[in-house]
Amino acid sequence: MYILGVSCFYHDAAATLIKDGLLVAAAEEERFSRQKHDYGFPAKAIDFCLRQEGVDGSELDYVVFYEKPLLKFERILMTTLATFPRSWKTFSEGMIAWFDEKLWIKGVLAKYLGVAQEKVLFVEHHLSHAASAFFASPYDEAAILTVDGVGEWTTATMGRASADWGGNGHNRIELFKEIRFPHSLGLLYSAFTAFLGFRVNNGEYKVMGMAPYGEPNRMDDVYRLIEVSEDGGFRLKLDYFSFHYSPSRTFNRQFENLFGEPRVHDSTFFTPTTHPNKDHPAWDEDVARGNQHYANIAASIQRVTEDTLLKMARHAHERTGLKKLCMAGGVALNSVANGRILRETPFEEIWIQPAAGDSGGALGAALYAYHVLLGNPRRFVQEHSYWGQGYEADEIKAALDRAGAHYERIDDEEKLANSMVDDLLTRKVIALFQGRFEWGPRALGNRSILADPRLAEMKNIVNTKIKFREPFRPFAPVVLEEHAESYYAGLIDARSLYPTRYMLMVFSVQKDKQDQIPAVTHEGGSGRLQTIRRDWNPRYYDVVNRFYEQTGVPVLLNTSFNLRGEPIVNSPDNALSTFSRSGIDTLYIGNYVVRKG
Ligand SMILES: [Fe+2]
Repeated sequence: MYILGVSCFYHDAAATLIKDGLLVAAAEEERFSRQKHDYGFPAKAIDFCLRQEGVDGSELDYVVFYEKPLLKFERILMTTLATFPRSWKTFSEGMIAWFDEKLWIKGVLAKYLGVAQEKVLFVEHHLSHAASAFFASPYDEAAILTVDGVGEWTTATMGRASADWGGNGHNRIELFKEIRFPHSLGLLYSAFTAFLGFRVNNGEYKVMGMAPYGEPNRMDDVYRLIEVSEDGGFRLKLDYFSFHYSPSRTFNRQFENLFGEPRVHDSTFFTPTTHPNKDHPAWDEDVARGNQHYANIAASIQRVTEDTLLKMARHAHERTGLKKLCMAGGVALNSVANGRILRETPFEEIWIQPAAGDSGGALGAALYAYHVLLGNPRRFVQEHSYWGQGYEADEIKAALDRAGAHYERIDDEEKLANSMVDDLLTRKVIALFQGRFEWGPRALGNRSILADPRLAEMKNIVNTKIKFREPFRPFAPVVLEEHAESYYAGLIDARSLYPTRYMLMVFSVQKDKQDQIPAVTHEGGSGRLQTIRRDWNPRYYDVVNRFYEQTGVPVLLNTSFNLRGEPIVNSPDNALSTFSRSGIDTLYIGNYVVRKG
């Protein structure tokens, strides 16, 4: 039985295909369209999923959309009436989009795929998020926490889920508590993202990256905007916001009265903490002081978000009495908060969908339909994230020849690992392109840039010369799973921990190791690590392991293979174009090696 899951028309569009309950393909549209966070109809991602399995639309048993358009329409309509006439612009713009696409999604999908309209099903947005985590986890039973900007009406849920692996089909997800728009932790974080000069739905990571450079000394002011109860319920003070009636602004004048002028979009960021020696080329005392103020605000909103999520998680534990937790929704990408939930709540195991944002809803909707609506038993556990498109050797060679690249071919895996490590040890930055691209926003060794984490200057080199992005942005380490505990504090039994496979949790670097890996140790001494086991990705494991044999350090710097503002590369053509426009020294693509100069 084939089920296609689709998400689009709000945040990241994506498609996934499951066959008899097993995932066979999953991809975000942006990788094909090359538009970052592309939210349009995911025709290319759908085509890829069908091609991967060699089927066409007529062979699909069901097509499942990740939310209920009419419920969302109701929310937009009701919100507009409540805030009319301020909201008229949002409403009229929203309406045009709705009548163009959204209300007719059933017809659009049926027509595109050539399936009957009755085969198109709909699953509520937060149920899709919940299913994307629970039905991809190995658990029989778990508490559920979903938190995002907004689905139809819902912005966060708590619940419990249970699964049947035997054949009785008693699978269920019960969301027993929900918080509704406009009260939204995701939209609160987004308002601060905009205030701090970053793009909403894109710059949330930058706020998290900026936070360690500040002191959380404005938490009292943040708590003027949000009232949080002990059971994790919360309400926003709407007087400070405009997202519920404005299409372009998330916060208003009253917010500015509290926190001051917004930071100029994408302006240079340096503070006395980032540059204790004042050696930034544009160093200016006033600007540095101003930036410190913004960093303090970033630290404050980050801490309030973490504390609220902790309360929600504790309440979910109290209500369910369960030891396992599944999480999804865009806010579940807050890896600092996730680490604290593991360490500071009674939950012993946590499973987070790597595509925690709306793209993951495509997978959740398909799995929900298979297991709950159709009552089929569990079969699938998501053990890795390599579900995107891969390319054969002849396709790679053709792209290299088209680009007129000089290359050599290395078929021996050991030689390949040695060559990569030789490059890394001579301070080179390399790109590793192999296999199928990753599902979700992180590159995990198949579309990655790698560098020596022992060199402090690598952080600056990769940020400014390779990716052309803000110099304060942290880099993440990939570490051999068997050495993870000796490098990261509080990481007990790394083998059983799923979120670290997907770079979804931050841990403190062990004190005696911080000086050893400065390029991947963030301000405050933490790292958002990825653990790697040879079974999941032999070539990736081998390069880290070979580096370990040579240096005694089982860690590399890993960052996504893309330039600032561009999606992660998909094809060999994307890889070659990105390679030529960046300061990457060597490209390892399939079994081919391309060197600069
Ligand atoms: Fe969502």
